[in-house]
Amino acid sequence: MVMTGGTSGFGAIAAERLTLARDARLILGARRPAPAGESIPLDLTELDSVRAFATSVRERLGDTPVDTLVLNAGVILPEATGRTVDGFETTFAVNHLAHYLLLRLLLPVLADSAVVVLTTSGTHDPAINAGLAPPRHADAELLAHPDRDRGRDPRPSKAGQHAYTASKLCAVLTARSLSERRDDRTTVVAYDPGQVFGTGLAKDLPFPMRTAWSLLGISLLRRPLSRLNPHLNSRTAAGNTLADLALGLATPPNGHTYASLRRARLTWPDPSELARSDELAQALWNDSARLVGLSD
Ligand SMILES: NC(=O)c1ccc[n+]([C@@H]2O[C@H](COP(=O)([O-])OP(=O)(O)OC[C@H]3O[C@@H](n4cnc5c(N)ncnc54)[C@H](OP(=O)(O)O)[C@@H]3O)[C@@H](O)[C@H]2O)c1
Repeated sequence: MVMTGGTSGFGAIAAERLTLARDARLILGARRPAPAGESIPLDLTELDSVRAFATSVRERLGDTPVDTLVLNAGVILPEATGRTVDGFETTFAVNHLAHYLLLRLLLPVLADSAVVVLTTSGTHDPAINAGLAPPRHADAELLAHPDRDRGRDPRPSKAGQHAYTASKLCAVLTARSLSERRDDRTTVVAYDPGQVFGTGLAKDLPFPMRTAWSLLGISLLRRPLSRLNPHLNSRTAAGNTLADLALGLATPPNGHTYASLRRARLTWPDPSELARSDELAQALWNDSARLVGLSD
């Protein structure tokens, strides 16, 4: 099993569960040593780090195929002005491009009956009314270079939110493309954990949001809100469900690749209208390949 985003938040809970599975060997790509599994250094802000990580994974596993790939790491930033060493907008680069490259580099060693889970977010869908600027497109070139996007909202916070929600739209589209490219034995899921307070996700956001995010992570404060909002989930519920998906204990109904956790129950709704576009999925796959230096 190979996983990103297993050092913090609900990913750490999932990682812990995965190490307890029978015959499990969990390799975590992480910036810092992880409490569970074996860690190999991975910084998703650098495509060279992704390449080195994929090479190390392949060397460590030898002839053993990767049976589970969990792409869970992610960031949300207060604006979209940061650029990675490769010159791409940071949120898009970490959440989508780096994971896309990792997926492509590990595709040849994925087991035939592999499970691939990409963590997305309900915020990719404007119909959810999550309060964040919804994605307007999944044009990889414009997301990598938002200053070229003529339709962009110039307000820094809106640009940051758009970078996040659009990167999560990319996760759903990538899951759909992957599912098309693999035969029926591979299970591909884009997983929306709902809203999970108390994780590290808000650490780069302004102080009031960061504080509210932490406080609402306390179950006593979150519980009354959960009755009103079906999308609110605890870290435990979100992490255990991610582990269930990764272990194949929860599987998609035929034709579904998008899962959403509501009131701690896994549901399989349709993703957003943009996420259902085959044309967009195909274009994103090809444009992402070009941006990370692959031929197709
Ligand atoms: N919390 C929510 O409400 C929510 C809702 C929908 C979707 N999600 C998604 O769920 C996933 C997990 O989020 P979370 O809420 O559990 O947040 P979190 O606690 O901040 O976890 C994020 C994980 O991503 C890793 N990461 C971030 N940048 C990285 C980089 N450059 N290189 C390598 N690893 C990196 C972090 O590693 P470090 O420990 O080194 O920081 C951490 O393990 C994310 O993809 C997020 O977008 C969260």
